[in-house]
Amino acid sequence: MADINTTISQIKKDLAAALSAAQTLDALEAVRIAFLGRQGLIAELMVQLKTATVDEKRVLGPALNELKTWAQTEFDAKKTILENSAAQADIDRERQFDVTAYRYQPLRGGLHVYTKFIRQLSDIFISMGYEIVDGPEVVNEYYNFEALNIPGDHPARADHDTFWLQHQPGMLLRTHTSSIQAREMEKRDLPLALFAPGRCYRNEATDATHNFMFMQAEAILISKNASVAQLIATAHAFLKAIFETDTLEIRVRPGYFPFVEPGLEIDATCPFCTSGCAVCKRTGWIELMGCGMVHPNVLRASGIDPEIYSGFAFGMGIERLAMLKYGITDIRNFQSIKMQILEQW
Ligand code: FA5
Repeated sequence: MADINTTISQIKKDLAAALSAAQTLDALEAVRIAFLGRQGLIAELMVQLKTATVDEKRVLGPALNELKTWAQTEFDAKKTILENSAAQADIDRERQFDVTAYRYQPLRGGLHVYTKFIRQLSDIFISMGYEIVDGPEVVNEYYNFEALNIPGDHPARADHDTFWLQHQPGMLLRTHTSSIQAREMEKRDLPLALFAPGRCYRNEATDATHNFMFMQAEAILISKNASVAQLIATAHAFLKAIFETDTLEIRVRPGYFPFVEPGLEIDATCPFCTSGCAVCKRTGWIELMGCGMVHPNVLRASGIDPEIYSGFAFGMGIERLAMLKYGITDIRNFQSIKMQILEQW
């Protein structure tokens, strides 16, 4: 019995110390669980009471009840103090809230990488005397293929997986910006120098470098003295300007496009390395554009005499160029709606 009395007074001392140390309602709850909880110290003593003799119970029962009542009263008193001071802190916080101290930062918009890059491309061609033109994305078979020396049975049609309009026979989503060539040559005076960026569509499976909707840009020049030398010089000047390097070299390989003769492919020295890197697949060269001298049949189809006039044209994939310039690894990111992706550029 003497032991139990010592335990009771120790519990009282410990509880008093724990209550005065508790400065938050959470800390107070931890004290409650330790002392007054179902498995707390007081409950443990109650369990011991069960095994006491009747005489002991007569003395211990009231002592433990007194302990329990005292502990609950002390706990409630501390709880009231902490609740009041939490409420007061809320009131103080509200009173001291400075409505002028918080201001939403204005949302800053930025140009989409498409807009930015197309402006850069266009500026370069404008500086070389070209006019920027636009063309429809839904065109007829004639402008997309036939006027470009690709008749119905030409195998080159298979290279363009075409989206045909279901209810308008012969109408399609343009597969390349070369579809602006004949349309512009028919209606313009010569000489002409045009640059036409725009959206194109091909019914292709998408992957990191292919999309079913992508951007191309076409440059076309028709004059009395257009030459391969002029084509190469123009392409070289353009590529140096877009990659912002004077040391970029180009090489010219034969290429086949039905609407140019000769047809050429232009590669450039990798703008990112001197001895091979992941971008150029360790070759030091990257393929950049298809081009060539406008085929006489294409000039004739637009009423231009190929004996008097000649021209050159080149076409490039805008995303592929931008991917190189900005290190974009997946073409599908251009159409992403994720701000984390778009903000990078
Ligand atoms: C043409 O479309 C020609 N009209 C280019 C041309 C113009 C040649 C004038 C000669 C004279 P090609 O199919 O290779 O060529 O496409 C040109 C570029 O468009 C490609 O190099 C590539 O960068 C881009 N491109 C083509 N298909 C896709 C696609 N599915 N996704 C993304 N980019 C593509």
